[in-house]
Amino acid sequence: MSADRAAAHAPRLTLVQGDLTEQAVDAVVNAANSSLLGGGGVDGAIHRRGGPDILAECRALRASHYGRGLPTGQAVATTAGRLPARWVIHTVGPVHSTSEDRSDQLASCHREALRVADELGARTVAFPAISTGVYGWPLEDAARIAVEAVRAAETAVEEVRFVLFDERAYAAFAAQVR
Ligand code: APR
Repeated sequence: MSADRAAAHAPRLTLVQGDLTEQAVDAVVNAANSSLLGGGGVDGAIHRRGGPDILAECRALRASHYGRGLPTGQAVATTAGRLPARWVIHTVGPVHSTSEDRSDQLASCHREALRVADELGARTVAFPAISTGVYGWPLEDAARIAVEAVRAAETAVEEVRFVLFDERAYAAFAAQVR
């Protein structure tokens, strides 16, 4: 296999309780909304700490490829601005629904973020618990979907780090990774 085509494999999974914006990884994944123009939670923290260059690139993406916004389950990369990471991979999680099973859209966020990471050549990627805040997805179920999707991925990414903001989220993911 040529040196520049790293072997596709299941990445190593690590868990951290902390702040996604402080992770010194190649790429952090943003739990964005389809507007790509910022919000609260992780999205707010990334833009606040990462600075205006991130929003400038998001606006350029809206003006070029994503006129109607980034669809749920898809992912796109920008600079990470002042964050310790090199890139932000923005993805839009599904809003939790009790009447419709949107599990595959949540899994798609993880698959697509890793696909974009491979395009960038990122080898370490940090994910938040996508959709478990404003979008209301129960933590345990989101953790199961996220870990299964990452484990099933064929990617050159070497480390996927789930960065959980509090103990409850950490415990939910630890129960899946054990
Ligand atoms: N680092 C790591 N995790 C964080 C951070 C942070 N700095 N801030 C919040 N979280 C956690 C939340 O506790 C939750 O577990 O990230 C998880 C996802 O929560 P949200 O950020 O609310 O994301 P989501 O549920 O996917 O909703 C997305 O919220 O902020 C808006 O613009 C965003 O409209 C979009 C929606």
